Amino acid sequence: MRNFNYNIPTKVYFGKGQLSALADEILRYKNILIVYGQGSVVHSGLLQRVVDIIQESGKKHVELSGVEPNPRVSLVRKGIALCREHHIDLVLALGGGSVIDTSKGIAMGVYQEADPWEVIVEQKEISQTVPVATILTLAATGSEMNPYAVISNEATEEKLGVGSPLLYPVFSILDPELTYSVSRHQTACGAVDIMSHVLEQYFCPVADTFIQNRLSEAIMETVVEFAPIALEEPDNYHARAELMWAGSLALNGLLSYGKIGDWSVHGMEHELSAIYNITHADGLAILQPAWMKYVLSEETVDRFAEYAERVWKIPTQEDKMAMAEAGIQKTRDFFNALGMPDRLSQVNINASSFEQMAEKAVSLYRNGQMGMLKKLGKEDVVKIFQSIE
Ligand code: NZQ
Ligand code: ZN
Repeated sequence: MRNFNYNIPTKVYFGKGQLSALADEILRYKNILIVYGQGSVVHSGLLQRVVDIIQESGKKHVELSGVEPNPRVSLVRKGIALCREHHIDLVLALGGGSVIDTSKGIAMGVYQEADPWEVIVEQKEISQTVPVATILTLAATGSEMNPYAVISNEATEEKLGVGSPLLYPVFSILDPELTYSVSRHQTACGAVDIMSHVLEQYFCPVADTFIQNRLSEAIMETVVEFAPIALEEPDNYHARAELMWAGSLALNGLLSYGKIGDWSVHGMEHELSAIYNITHADGLAILQPAWMKYVLSEETVDRFAEYAERVWKIPTQEDKMAMAEAGIQKTRDFFNALGMPDRLSQVNINASSFEQMAEKAVSLYRNGQMGMLKKLGKEDVVKIFQSIE
């Protein structure tokens, strides 16, 4: 296990009725920017409930709606202008990862002279932000408890991440009942995203991380157990609650302590959604098993056999390679059973852009190589794309 500094400062209010915590939490703020998406929080009544609490508390608010999946920097710019105009001192995200990431992008940009896209591309130092808080409505990204945002630039067809300790939400309200209305496909997408976040950190070159690996397996088993239930019974509180907490724990930093994450699958996926604007988890469902198969080798086989045994209950046998392959197949079968795609053609991506996407993916890394468990160059990424054409 490597050295680490534990720091997850987001205060979490988890459970039924926790929206009531909002009144106390906003006491110290005056002007609130509410950010939301394309209407789910209007239909569910959440927006009105939040506005009522803000008004009863004597605070002012402004709204910014219209966040799209794969959130755009153009809306971030709009939010920054609103913050400056209305002296906003809290950005409150109502929604899933896209809304939260937009809110973080706005919070990051308010005190910067540079355009937010320049800040992201040049990884400029972020020394002051407006505080962000979230009311989560979709279990998936973990953005409600982490310091990252992923923003797309529609003009340049790029999708890039940005992070700063100042972007941890100051508080997040996680009421599983708010996820009852999430569609079947988005629920499945959330489950795949959570699995992928765990897997990106689970398969790592650092040895002796027993406790971290067992925590990871517990989260994956939770998703395997409860995602199918949530699909069949959208208002099953227990299933929604397990998935919601799994999503936060999967990417709040906890699992990566003492380890180095691989993150190749996310690196590749961001290129798919940058150019083709596909849903993040559709890309992950296609890429994750393909990456596993590609990096499986004599050097990595023990880790994959352990995964197969502990998460998928594949019986121990002498042939570790067979165990590992069975575990990868189980992963693919699970994603398929959730209704997720497993080929790029299913999301209308063809071979014509493989080279371009591979080039863009590896160019973001030093020496043009991505990944930690196995270093992947451009040709490796093209081969992975070809294996799922
Ligand atoms: O826009 P509305 O109307 O709210 O509808 C949304 C949207 O259409 C809908 N939805 C959300 N909550 C709902 C609901 N519909 C009904 N009932 C509810 N309670 O779901 C759709 C998808 O929402 P979105 O926020 O895009 O999904 P998700 O949470 O999966 O976020 C995906 C984005 O996060 C990025 C992804 O790349 C993608 O852009 N990621 C962010 C990360 C981070 N910040 O740490 C890490 C991830 O790996 C990921 O890259
Ligand atoms: Zn993800």
